[in-house]
Amino acid sequence: MPKIITLPGDGIGPEVTAAAVAVLREVAPDVITEEHAIGGGAFDTHGDPFPQRTRDALQDADAVLLGTVGGAHDSPWNRLPRHLRPESGLLALRKALGCYANLRPVRVQPGLEHLSPLKPELARGVDILIVRELLGGIYFDGDRRLEGHVAYNTMRYTTPEVERVAKVAFWAAEQRKGRVTSVDKANVLEVSELWRRDVQALRDREYRSIHLNHEYVDSVAMLIVANPSRYDVVVTENLFGDILSDLAAVIPGSLGLMPSASLGDGPGLFEPIHGSAPDIAGQGMANPAAAIQSAGMLLRHGLGRPDAANQVDRAVALALRQHPTRDLGGQADTQTFTQAVLRALETSPAVG
Ligand code: NAD
Ligand code: IPM
Ligand code: MN
Repeated sequence: MPKIITLPGDGIGPEVTAAAVAVLREVAPDVITEEHAIGGGAFDTHGDPFPQRTRDALQDADAVLLGTVGGAHDSPWNRLPRHLRPESGLLALRKALGCYANLRPVRVQPGLEHLSPLKPELARGVDILIVRELLGGIYFDGDRRLEGHVAYNTMRYTTPEVERVAKVAFWAAEQRKGRVTSVDKANVLEVSELWRRDVQALRDREYRSIHLNHEYVDSVAMLIVANPSRYDVVVTENLFGDILSDLAAVIPGSLGLMPSASLGDGPGLFEPIHGSAPDIAGQGMANPAAAIQSAGMLLRHGLGRPDAANQVDRAVALALRQHPTRDLGGQADTQTFTQAVLRALETSPAVG
């Protein structure tokens, strides 16, 4: 029986994770879930945003389902030494799992174009996969310091780090339209020069059927919303991928429609890309779709159950049509939306 570690975390994390677990139970009743602490709440209880108990629980896990971590701007958590802050717990979790490739699909399902603020003809048919490098770059390692009036961080990549994530992007493109756009700032940064060189060399060596092009991150920030259909797979480094994926959330219509899967050496990590939304936390109005779709990605990539994953995707699309949540201009609260997904699952066939 597959074992899933659930880490609800802070803010709306527990609300959306509960919805995702309910859906998971419905489509995969044999799965065992075990809940553990992460983030600010984990610091409050255990003095550590990634407690040893949580770390130990990962040993025999088949996959990890995460909610969100972090507090509001004025949260006392933000005054802790950096390594004790909620976000450091999440980064340590990603590192511990060795999840270097973060897949962030941006999809406008047929019939849901009206949820996008873009013109329907721009939103229609959008299907982008952002592959974000997740364990390197300016987020990790290297020199970092804040001293009085001087502060610095270091952006650093090595060829093996670039190649392993680029391989995931090429592999994904092979199952899709065969196009990869590598995003960098090679006109300014040495790190990007290495990134571009290594991605191109890998393509020329091992993935000659893939059409690869390179674009600058500032230009992509414009083009991805102005003409999203020009992209198939987008591969980029950690910070650029973080920013571009929130930007791309505008295309389907909300951060609440952006799931993710982080893959690497061990069990995968599945989480919505949005944060803990302190402005709406505890009010039962968060959109749980991204968390539920992340459970779908867990079924697909973590447990190898594509039929169940497709079932979840169809049920979410149906629920979005009938009961859109408030972030999408609708009325449904978390509960109403989740019930709609569960009803849609009961009436939809398991295969097809
Ligand atoms: P955020 O993503 O939490 O919220 C941005 C805006 O989007 C808010 O108005 C929020 O209400 C809305 N929103 C986000 N998810 C939503 C959902 N599912 N349904 C409806 N509305 C939703 O970003 P922020 O406000 O910049 O960050 C808040 C906290 O979350 C910070 O502490 C930050 O560090 C943390 N954070 C955590 C993660 C994570 O756990 N993976 C990701 C991003 C931010
Ligand atoms: C995300 C978040 C995290 C990141 C933070 C909370 C560490 O913004 O998952 O996108 O920057 O990776
Ligand atoms: Mn982010």
